[in-house]
Amino acid sequence: MGFTVAIDGPAASGKGTISKAVAAHFGFAHLDTGLLYRAVGLRVLNGVEPVEAAQTLRAEDLDADDLRTAPVAQAASKAAAIPDVRAALVDFQRAFAMRSGGAVLDGRDIGTVICADAPVKLFVTASDAVRGERRYLELAGKGEDVTRDGVLADLRQRDARDSERATAPLVAAKDALVLDTSEMSIEEAVAKAVAVIEGRMGERD
Ligand code: DC
Repeated sequence: MGFTVAIDGPAASGKGTISKAVAAHFGFAHLDTGLLYRAVGLRVLNGVEPVEAAQTLRAEDLDADDLRTAPVAQAASKAAAIPDVRAALVDFQRAFAMRSGGAVLDGRDIGTVICADAPVKLFVTASDAVRGERRYLELAGKGEDVTRDGVLADLRQRDARDSERATAPLVAAKDALVLDTSEMSIEEAVAKAVAVIEGRMGERD
């Protein structure tokens, strides 16, 4: 059976960066589950009904160019509040998690719903100010026409919607280790995550 690492957290908390680095370190496969919702969001913006967009999602939809923009993130967050949209994406995520070589999944409900039995669960977070600045630099660096205030407002609105929805809200699993990256470098955060995972792997040997 594969070893699954579940990493959840709010937008721009650093969970994506940590997940990629952890997957590379252990040779695990990595799934950014936010991309699934973003691909659904983009299809919705293109006129497809949300549940249909999720039920007929294809692998090539995950390669679309515009998935990392703020409007797509908002559309993803709105579609993600619809239970049938979430239900359509469960099997794919669980199959990915069971890969024999190990898997890291990051998102909002991995430790609580998708992989509730995962041996390692991390909840990555950071202050609003730090998250806003990180996402501002990321989007401005790609040439998007954004302001600091606009980016922060967008993150807060999305986090509120993601946390307050009835189905699979953004919340730390009871058995998740909370990693606040506000004052950490990427290297420190990754080292901490690697240490936690190594500890759990050692216990299971
Ligand atoms: O991780 P991200 O910012 O790319 O995710 C975009 C949106 O998708 C996020 O605002 C909420 C939704 N999402 C979700 O509801 N559940 C997940 N497992 C991943 C993302």
